[in-house]
Amino acid sequence: MKKRFAISIGIVLVVLLTLVSYHRFPVQTKGAFFTVFPIFAWVSVDQPVLFNHIRHTEALNLNCNFCHRYAEKHRSAGLPNIELCKACHATDAMSKKPEALKVVKYAQAGEEIPWKKMYELPKFVVFSHWIHVQKGIDCSVCHGLTGNKERPVKMVDRNYMAWCMDCHQKRGASSDCYACHSS
Ligand code: HEC
Ligand code: HEC
Ligand code: HEC
Ligand code: HEC
Ligand code: HEC
Repeated sequence: MKKRFAISIGIVLVVLLTLVSYHRFPVQTKGAFFTVFPIFAWVSVDQPVLFNHIRHTEALNLNCNFCHRYAEKHRSAGLPNIELCKACHATDAMSKKPEALKVVKYAQAGEEIPWKKMYELPKFVVFSHWIHVQKGIDCSVCHGLTGNKERPVKMVDRNYMAWCMDCHQKRGASSDCYACHSS
């Protein structure tokens, strides 16, 4: 009797956990694993400077397209160059945090920060930001926590073919091979 009770409690807990994690992300991810354990859906990336997105977007109230200025009208979103950082980090007056001081060094030397690309599709895939942004799809659907963390993180549970196709089918966008693959 006691054993059966424990088992039913266990089942209820598992169902609850699954439901909660299922609703954590706006888009259903294909792998059940990521649905149950969303914590594994992103990984930290060691960039030359540990850029803090949330500080710049929330504390300073900067829009994504203040820095990624091509996202609304062009294929690529674009990374900001050092000139833009220089507007605020030319000296240590704005911030004396160790990571910010690294930016000051690059700015004073007039060198670009050698960012590692976190999101890059293979060459044979065609992808445009503007078409998705104009259809009202939020950056976070595809980039999850990347724009909302205090250090660089990359989502590993999305941006693969079956995932793109899944939304295309739901939203009536093209599923034709040539829509996403050039010859
Ligand atoms: C103050 C400028 C700034 C703002 C504002 C900003 N970003 Fe960034 N973003 C960067 C820099 C610098 C990098 C490169 C460092 C890194 O990877 O964290 C980056 C990297 C990224 C990347 C990874 C690019 C790649 O493939 O390597 C994504 C995705 C991204 N940002 C999304 C966003 C989103 C979404 C927002 C708005 C919520 C946003 N960013 C706001 C400066 C900014
Ligand atoms: C509009 C002004 C502005 C721009 C543009 C700007 N920053 Fe900042 N940045 C700030 C402020 C303000 C802080 C926070 C100061 C503090 O809390 O010490 C900051 C903090 C930082 C930090 C330290 C964050 C931490 O928590 O350790 C880094 C790294 C940084 N910025 C990198 C960059 C890079 C790279 C760029 C260019 C892509 C950039 N910033 C562009 C204003 C700016
Ligand atoms: C439909 C999914 C999707 C949406 C929505 C989306 N992105 Fe992306 N993003 C991607 C993919 C896929 C890549 C890799 C592109 C490549 O390699 O051609 C990427 C690459 C990037 C990069 C790397 C640099 C570059 O230009 O390729 C940045 C920065 C970025 N996105 C920012 C944003 C911002 C900011 C928004 C919201 C305004 C946004 N993205 C909306 C899927 C998306
Ligand atoms: C959240 C939904 C969603 C996701 C995820 C998504 N797309 Fe789209 N995509 C759309 C919508 C909506 C359109 C616009 C269809 C239209 O024009 O009616 C579109 C259009 C496109 C087009 C232009 C199609 C044409 O008819 O010429 C390409 C190419 C494309 N997406 C590639 C991708 C790739 C590659 C990925 C994965 C990295 C992706 N999309 C992920 C919703 C999505
Ligand atoms: C909505 C966009 C989209 C459509 C439509 C699409 N693909 Fe893809 N395809 C992708 C993306 C994105 C990748 C890269 C996957 C990755 O890096 O994980 C890819 C990768 C591939 C690969 C390489 C697979 C691998 O594992 O390396 C093949 C082969 C392929 N697609 C064939 C097709 C065929 C055949 C069709 C038509 C039935 C098709 N694709 C339709 C987006 C699409």
